[in-house]
Amino acid sequence: MHEITDGLIYFPAFYSRAEQEALVGQLRDCVRAAPLFIPLMPKTGKPFSVRMTNCGALGWVSDTERGYRYEHRHPITGAPWPPIPALALQAWNEAGHYPAPPEACLVNFYGAGARMGLHQDRDEEALDAPVVSISLGDSCLFRIGGTSRSGKTQSLRLHSGDVLVIGGASRLAFHGVDRTMPGTSTLLEGGGRINLTMRRVTKVEQQPNQKPSS
Ligand code: SIN
Ligand code: FE2
Repeated sequence: MHEITDGLIYFPAFYSRAEQEALVGQLRDCVRAAPLFIPLMPKTGKPFSVRMTNCGALGWVSDTERGYRYEHRHPITGAPWPPIPALALQAWNEAGHYPAPPEACLVNFYGAGARMGLHQDRDEEALDAPVVSISLGDSCLFRIGGTSRSGKTQSLRLHSGDVLVIGGASRLAFHGVDRTMPGTSTLLEGGGRINLTMRRVTKVEQQPNQKPSS
């Protein structure tokens, strides 16, 4: 584990191969309940090259009319999202160190040629909570900069089983995936890359002070 910059913490090989296989199995169940969909960019309606779904109480969605937001239900089936896989929660708990559970786990599937442009994750109210990211399958070239789009960026190769915590001063850093590297992993039959990002969306309510016992 090491801190790359303030609040950006990298855990290479957080998950063993056996754990990665088990997590992929749990994700297959998620995708059966909540099929991958192709979100559309707000306003332009341009499709993302990444296919997505979600697990958890809330899921991140985007369409032309209403833009980026969290919803309780799948945009096509209308069903609630399946629960976040237990193995994914392990990274939230052991690497994220946030005192409340995540509400959303965005599942991104990168097929050949898919990428993700530089963006900030800022559709959450709980910006004190980190985003905890898990990579599975093919490696990718991940790019991350500062809080202004035009700032300097650095590149990082993310491999299957790696966990990246984007929190603290890096929570609103611009980031994206320049490209995946086909053929770099045997985890997923048919290749490709899966990225999971767990997020806390709503602010955690302060516990009222305990009354002293009499
Ligand atoms: C994202 O920013 O939502 C995805 C990051 C990644 O695929 O590693
Ligand atoms: Fe993101």
